[in-house]
Amino acid sequence: MTAAKDAWDAIVKTAKTPLSELFTVEPDRLSRLSIDESGILFDFSKTHLSTALIGHFQALADASAFAVKRDALFAGDIVNVTEGRAAEHPAERGQGAPGSVARARGFQSRMRAMIDAIEAEVLGPVRHILHVGIGGSALGPDLLVDALGRDADRYEVAVVSNVDGAALDEVFKRFDPQATLLVVASKTFTTTETMMNARSVLSWMEEDNVEDPYSRVIALTADPDRAVEWGVDETRILPFSESVGGRYSLWSSIGFPAALGLGWDAFENLLAGAAAMDRHFRTASADRNIPLLAAFVDQYYSRVAGAETRAVFAYDERLRLLPSYLQQLEMESNGKSVKADGSAIDGPTAAITWGGVGTDAQHAVFQLLHQGTRLVPVEFIAAIEPDHVLDDAHHRALLINCFAQGAALMAGKPNDDPARAYAGDRPSTTILLDRLDPARLGALLAFYEHRTFANAVLMGINPFDQFGVELGKEIARSIESEGTERFDASTRALIARALS
Ligand code: F6P
Repeated sequence: MTAAKDAWDAIVKTAKTPLSELFTVEPDRLSRLSIDESGILFDFSKTHLSTALIGHFQALADASAFAVKRDALFAGDIVNVTEGRAAEHPAERGQGAPGSVARARGFQSRMRAMIDAIEAEVLGPVRHILHVGIGGSALGPDLLVDALGRDADRYEVAVVSNVDGAALDEVFKRFDPQATLLVVASKTFTTTETMMNARSVLSWMEEDNVEDPYSRVIALTADPDRAVEWGVDETRILPFSESVGGRYSLWSSIGFPAALGLGWDAFENLLAGAAAMDRHFRTASADRNIPLLAAFVDQYYSRVAGAETRAVFAYDERLRLLPSYLQQLEMESNGKSVKADGSAIDGPTAAITWGGVGTDAQHAVFQLLHQGTRLVPVEFIAAIEPDHVLDDAHHRALLINCFAQGAALMAGKPNDDPARAYAGDRPSTTILLDRLDPARLGALLAFYEHRTFANAVLMGINPFDQFGVELGKEIARSIESEGTERFDASTRALIARALS
């Protein structure tokens, strides 16, 4: 405990050297802080991590038993202590305890057999895949299909999460009920929105006289018994382990629409890319460990420099859903006020993750990044190879803009007119993929998972529970069942006006 406190004291006392000066006083800075792994370059050199700060953060990692906790994650130990579970997402990539890896492989062969069956039209002709799920049961598959499936012509895939009927309505207008496969994705198979949406899809099929709509349903769940109770035939259930957290589940059967839409080889490459990042995270030394260094950056800006948010801008249209995916991963994992042992955390925890795509965001929110009063560490993500038929000039303009923004944030520019002056010294990280393919996307997403874990270890948080989402759900249920009497005047008045 005192070792951790000593490390924090040293971090806080370390003077913040301006970024441009850091490049002068640390001439090897670029080579030390720019690390290539799995076809992705991670450049942390435009952050305020100095050699001294990295040393203190390493001491903090040691004092937080980082290596022991990381090994416990991969060994399949109970790391989710409040729920008494392991966190088995690395096992889905072949990187966990042998028993968990074998179980994950078993589940994967069921997925593969299901894909073969669908392709052989065993469930009837399928052209449209309607994936219904929410949170971790939607954001990951949606991201994968959107990022990698733009040219895929195997199936048309729609991911619907919102209970707002407008979301399904939009899909009903373009999908054919006779050619639709309903994929119900829910770890618990109890989530209100998902079950309501799934029922509405079945009604839509019934209205079109689809013969035996339940035979067109596949369930992705960690609770197969509930899925059977709900009406899904057990031969069409693709299970995954209860120890795979919802927001860490795209590697499991929750990734089924991606495996079906992109093809099994692509899905395997995604897993292989993630496994390569797992190996890096397990074995790289602290000063070259990419997720750990990223966590040092996060900890520094949010807990020392006072940044309330961190912004992620993908200079790649295919990654437009990445910020939403990261919001759940980072904020649901580390948006906590207590440590794993129940004691209060001293200081802020997860920053608010937000972002968008470049270059669009430049014309909307970058004013605040360059001249606003708030410190916002920025992350830029881009791919060297384009993936479209348009002239090279488009991609060149895209990349130049991306790199120019990082340079401008750092360099700033004085001006006698204060309204036109840029203070500079604003930090950014750049993540540059050789190209966006399944393996690199797998490595990138595994990087984010491990960065989230490393942040949690440095703060003492359990990143694998999410009790904070329960109260609102509980109140919604009780409004339905008991009415509004016990609630405040404002809530009662709103409900009376809108729903009576
Ligand atoms: O409400 C939050 C949450 O529990 C997430 O953690 C989870 O990803 C999502 O709901 C969906 O849960 P399920 O997969 O059980 O339907």
